[in-house]
Amino acid sequence: LNFLTPKTRKEIADILIQGLERMEYRGYDSAGIAIDAGEVKDRPHDAIFLFRKAGKVSVLADALEKGSIHLDMTKEYAIHCGIAHTRWATHGSPKDLNSHPQRSNDTSDFVVVHNGIITNYREIKEYLLKKGHKFESETDTEVIAKLIQHVHDRYPDFSFRQLVEIVIQQLEGAFALAFKSRKFPGQLVATRRGSPLLVGIKTNNGRLTFDQFPVSFSKARRFTSTTATHLRDHDESFCGTPTVLDLSIGAVPSGDNASPMSSIRPFGSSAWEVEYFVASDAAAIIEHTKQVLYLEDDDVAFVENGALSIHRIKRGLTEKDKTLPTREVQEINMELQQIMMGSFQTYMQKEIFEQTESVVNTMRGRVLPSGEVVLGGIKEFVADIKRCRRLLMVACGTSYNSAIACRQILEELTELPVVLELASDFLDRETPIFRDDVAIFVSQSGETADTLGALRYCKLHGALVIGVTNTVGSSICRESHCGIHINAGPEIGVASTKAYTSQMLSLLMLALVLSEDRKSMEQRRGAIIDALNNLSGHISDVLKLDSEVKEIAKEIYKEKSLLVMGRGFNFATCLEGALKIKELSYMHCEGIMSGELKHGPLAMVDEDLAIVMVICKDNVYKKSLNALQQVIARGGRPIIIADQSVPDADLAGMPHVLRVPTTVDCVQNILTVIPLQMLSYHIADLNGLNVDRPRNLAKSVTVE
Ligand code: G6P
Repeated sequence: LNFLTPKTRKEIADILIQGLERMEYRGYDSAGIAIDAGEVKDRPHDAIFLFRKAGKVSVLADALEKGSIHLDMTKEYAIHCGIAHTRWATHGSPKDLNSHPQRSNDTSDFVVVHNGIITNYREIKEYLLKKGHKFESETDTEVIAKLIQHVHDRYPDFSFRQLVEIVIQQLEGAFALAFKSRKFPGQLVATRRGSPLLVGIKTNNGRLTFDQFPVSFSKARRFTSTTATHLRDHDESFCGTPTVLDLSIGAVPSGDNASPMSSIRPFGSSAWEVEYFVASDAAAIIEHTKQVLYLEDDDVAFVENGALSIHRIKRGLTEKDKTLPTREVQEINMELQQIMMGSFQTYMQKEIFEQTESVVNTMRGRVLPSGEVVLGGIKEFVADIKRCRRLLMVACGTSYNSAIACRQILEELTELPVVLELASDFLDRETPIFRDDVAIFVSQSGETADTLGALRYCKLHGALVIGVTNTVGSSICRESHCGIHINAGPEIGVASTKAYTSQMLSLLMLALVLSEDRKSMEQRRGAIIDALNNLSGHISDVLKLDSEVKEIAKEIYKEKSLLVMGRGFNFATCLEGALKIKELSYMHCEGIMSGELKHGPLAMVDEDLAIVMVICKDNVYKKSLNALQQVIARGGRPIIIADQSVPDADLAGMPHVLRVPTTVDCVQNILTVIPLQMLSYHIADLNGLNVDRPRNLAKSVTVE
């Protein structure tokens, strides 16, 4: 948003498109933009020009160029607010109508872009449908656009900021939002809860003269009396004048509620200029400004007449609250490339380290504080699934390993037979399938040809078909009867890391859902849910092992062969760890079930063979120690991955012991696989190989 130095419509669109390009590294499946359309033919005077496209930003840019043919792109604005977005689908497949900005009605009275997930969108949608709103997309985001319209229709006198404050009180889940409205031209409201959002401030003389930006409190204005999940029209509770203690930069805001206590101008002269850039990621704005203010949860940033103010909703201001909190205006000392990758060298490394967040995203709105586990995508099928003859899990590669990882807990909690199938082999054998089978298809991309072929085969034979994918709108999503989106976010590195742990979590949540009414499982389920609540913190502890893992990699990266051994819940970790090492470093590496050691692999063991063993204090602990002794007796000195509860004495004399936090057995394998992800990364990196694009492999294999 800019003012005082007019910019043409073309310049504004270019800034937005360029911002999107800067965020392409994060991965996305569609993009969209909204700018003022002013005098466009056959439209209301202050129309919003909205463009949305599935696919690359370049597709959007081309479409925009063609579509804006009737717009005067040389028209200059002193004040203008434009918004743009790249989307990674969580609800609704990647298509034009599901892209953001989402709009409130045909005339785009309100448009909004959203990062995150609204977990109570169904309830809000139901409410709005009853009120006569028509929905055009399958997104959770559209409810936000419709809701703000609804509140505005009801209370036309309210300011844009007040409308947003009311709306966000109804939302559950995670969001970073930016709103634009043709009813409030030139204004912008942005807010966040659980998803990052920042405001970049550019002034025409460089630095701002202050670095603490005060936040004001607004008194709550509520549209409903209770929670968002039970939207009701308690209009009488909607009263009171907002108390705004406001401090702003730029011009002094005018209007009903934004009476500032004081204002700060960026510098003394009156001939000044400020532009604000609101973004979820500094990469989008770094070439415009390095002065950035990070918003905190429930902050509402409001730009009006070129002035920025930040507000928080507070019901009943106390004396204490009058000491206003502040937001720091920070100078980012990084260049674009560094910000895009953070401190990471590659996508794969970034994705490994993102697992503290991706697991939270997978569980968001599903593992509830009440201890309940809810999977909206299979809700209506749970009873049918429980009645099935057997559960089949079909997948390829890493996704198959996630199925192995969760087989035991599915068997234990559901007491159903669980059959695992590699999709290619399953198709080769034309396996018998029955109408009372439930078949689960696990696939990051949702497009793997073998997995999709197996899905079609099962469907043809009358089985209930469940998709577990990271890609909303993918073929597997569309063709399955119901499903679970793993919501790990885009995974760009060819070797799967964060998708693997989110797949495991999704299958684990499925086991929890299918056993919710089993009294005998209550304690076990409780322990697992506790472990899930601690998972993100545990993962961040595991990630601290990175430099230790790198040192180990330095010792073994020239080896010809490496064995990774374990059993029980950790067998899958061995297979997945070995797969990662093969994929990335082209080294011969095998995951070995340590129960099978004496049936063959032991013959390979001597003092020269590199070995990793995974040993945890679980139901196979004694047997794991036996395997260790067998290896030691043949001169092997394995690298150990163990949980913290394994006594030092049991691992005495081992050259390296990587300790991960102790958790419940069926969650432990999420923690033990991460050191192997890091090991594969460092081995490949030390060998000078392209970690993100290993030779001969593709991220999504769409041929059989
Ligand atoms: C390819 C990828 C693997 C992936 C496998 C299954 O081989 O290189 O990383 O695990 O496909 O892919 P999916 O998308 O079905 O999980």
